[in-house]
Amino acid sequence: MNKAKCILLSCFFISVSAVVVNAQPAGIPQRVEALLKKMTLAEKIGQLNQYNGDWAATGPVTTDVGNKLDAIKRGEVGSILNITGVQHTRVFQEAAMKSRLKIPLLFGQDVIHGYSVTFPIPLAEAASWDMDAIEKSARIAATEAAAGGVHWTFAPMVDIARDPRWGRVMEGAGEDPYLGSLIATARVKGFQGKGLGNLDAVMACAKHFTAYGAAIGGRDYNSVDMSLRTLWEVYLPPFKAALDAGVATFMNSFNDLNGTPASASHYLQREILKDKWGFKGFVVSDWGSIGEMINHGYVKDNYEAAEAAINAGNDMDMESRSYINNLAKLVADKKVSVRTIDEAVRRILTKKFELGLFDDPYRFSSEEREKRVLNKPEFIAAARDVARKSIVLLKNDKRVLPLSKNTGSIALIGPMVKLKKENKGFWSLDVGDESQVVSLYEGMQQQAGITKLLYAQGCDITDTSKIGFADAVKTAMQADVVVMAMGERFDMTGEAKSRSDIHLPGIQEELIKAVIATGKPVVVLLYAGRPMVFDWTADHAPAIVYTWWLGNQAGNAIADVLYGNYNPSAKLPVTFPRTEGQIPIYYNHYNTGRPPHADNDVNYTSSYIDLLNSPKFAFGHGLSYTTFKYDNIKLSKKSMLKTGSITVSFDIENTGKYAGGEVAQLYLRDLVSQPVRPVKELKDFKKLMLQPGEKKTVTFIINKDKLAFYNDKLERITQPGDFMLMIGSASDDIRLQDKFTLLD
Ligand code: GLC
Repeated sequence: MNKAKCILLSCFFISVSAVVVNAQPAGIPQRVEALLKKMTLAEKIGQLNQYNGDWAATGPVTTDVGNKLDAIKRGEVGSILNITGVQHTRVFQEAAMKSRLKIPLLFGQDVIHGYSVTFPIPLAEAASWDMDAIEKSARIAATEAAAGGVHWTFAPMVDIARDPRWGRVMEGAGEDPYLGSLIATARVKGFQGKGLGNLDAVMACAKHFTAYGAAIGGRDYNSVDMSLRTLWEVYLPPFKAALDAGVATFMNSFNDLNGTPASASHYLQREILKDKWGFKGFVVSDWGSIGEMINHGYVKDNYEAAEAAINAGNDMDMESRSYINNLAKLVADKKVSVRTIDEAVRRILTKKFELGLFDDPYRFSSEEREKRVLNKPEFIAAARDVARKSIVLLKNDKRVLPLSKNTGSIALIGPMVKLKKENKGFWSLDVGDESQVVSLYEGMQQQAGITKLLYAQGCDITDTSKIGFADAVKTAMQADVVVMAMGERFDMTGEAKSRSDIHLPGIQEELIKAVIATGKPVVVLLYAGRPMVFDWTADHAPAIVYTWWLGNQAGNAIADVLYGNYNPSAKLPVTFPRTEGQIPIYYNHYNTGRPPHADNDVNYTSSYIDLLNSPKFAFGHGLSYTTFKYDNIKLSKKSMLKTGSITVSFDIENTGKYAGGEVAQLYLRDLVSQPVRPVKELKDFKKLMLQPGEKKTVTFIINKDKLAFYNDKLERITQPGDFMLMIGSASDDIRLQDKFTLLD
């Protein structure tokens, strides 16, 4: 064969392999291009426009646009959010089928922790450190949502949060980039399942891009100002993990980052997301965030806002009307190119093709499937399972817990005891009814057996009346054991729910004092979507259980833990401060030049003269009804090249009398580095179940990825030197440690 033919043939094979490598199912790119060619500019702009479905507003409702069904028929809408149910979504899709090109709508919904069967709030699930359980929770939520006509969930929220005053800390995975990245991956995989196009898969959405959780003062929507190195070290990793897991969409954030509103950030949306990371999905704004650039003072009107956003890589406009009202003129004025519009439309149409909506716009609109799929018993069982795994045992002095089935009587006291739908927490949907939610009272009734249950509310959540105290104390005196169910109102965390004072609200702590004064054994359950401050209770209550908001199966899960049917295994994914004055406080901090040498060291050290230095409860803290012994740590070697690795192994033994789960955590510290590195960073963990007396060997592999960090040039590097290796049951409960050296 002559040379020319050879080259020709190899070119042919290269082109074929290129097509095969890049091919999506059934030539979607070609179908997108063919449709794009038929579309008018107005129809293209319509695809970039998202309206609220008026079932529930999750943001400030702007001026009405008249009948949205008519707008859809005119081809002015690409997506609708906040519509629930097959019947409702079908009506809107039928309107889209009356448009000239019959481009189907995308239906988006905040399916954050469950659709009909509500699961624990995301921060609670994060406390399980159980990726399989977290993925399963998202998988079930997606299965139900897809059966309910939803194509797209605005989840997972992957914002790192180090400030518990910020109400949206409830929606994420806490303060740690490593744990947060694993959870982001689990949730994306759960929501998207075997891939778009499957009838039980929905598009996931990594949000809020980015650094929204670093709002100054923990005040929602507030500015964020940080070094790019901190951005890359702490806030971007969970987004990159979501992208690597194949997340279909991103949502940008309300905040300005270093003076640029995220919706207008070319750096975030094009340089990082679309160029450096190669993101092929699309970016939706947050509710009205494009128009809010005017409030930021970044632009003077919606015309300029639309120009800034679309040129920065924001593909879809949620609810600001900036795109639908201004993009045509921006194109005419040559401020926005048709090419830019086409790129955004291409990204959105591609997802609609991948979902199969062009083949059948009603494929998610089956009333029969909706009835068949929602609230399956196995979904309810899964919700109970992950709820139990999310409950954190903060304290258990004098072994008050688990409760004995032979207890004569238990007094259930407090404002949370009989709550029902509130257990679903913030960002839960009004699907299903309250009877599906199990209160603490109901859960205890299921398991109390011969034990007599007494009840007194004692006080309300936020009021200051002590009128119920006498009855509560009297009820406590009649019981053998007291279980108090206290906490925040479910909607005291969530969007636009920042608190300057995160104490247990009202006069609840005084009620706890009054009941503890009876001398009875008291267990305090704390319901919240954030770390709260409850210093006196933490010091005086013998047993404290953090129950977060656990969803439909709350009452059963809590009773399972209180009676020891499930031995608590959860660990805090976020630091609990002693008081608001300590905020921000997080475990992976730098050492400073004057680190305190003891908790009360104030002698020219970085500390407060009026407060201990440690948090009230540390990242990774969580007790069990049993005990675990760590020993026999071994390193395969004491030094490694960056191309090499070190295997660390150690034994864990269950030295108590209950079977239980333990999360063994690996922390590393780079002892000398420029720039400096935190005093410890979570780099691996293993959750393992052990029977009483059982011993297992755990191994972690240390490679350069666990040692790398960003330098001031934002290069990801490693530096040779010594590292401290710590194995712990919590970030402040290190059981084993050793050192190793990274060689050049
Ligand atoms: C809200 C939230 C965002 C949510 C969106 C749609 O304002 O910030 O997380 O997905 O609007 O409800």
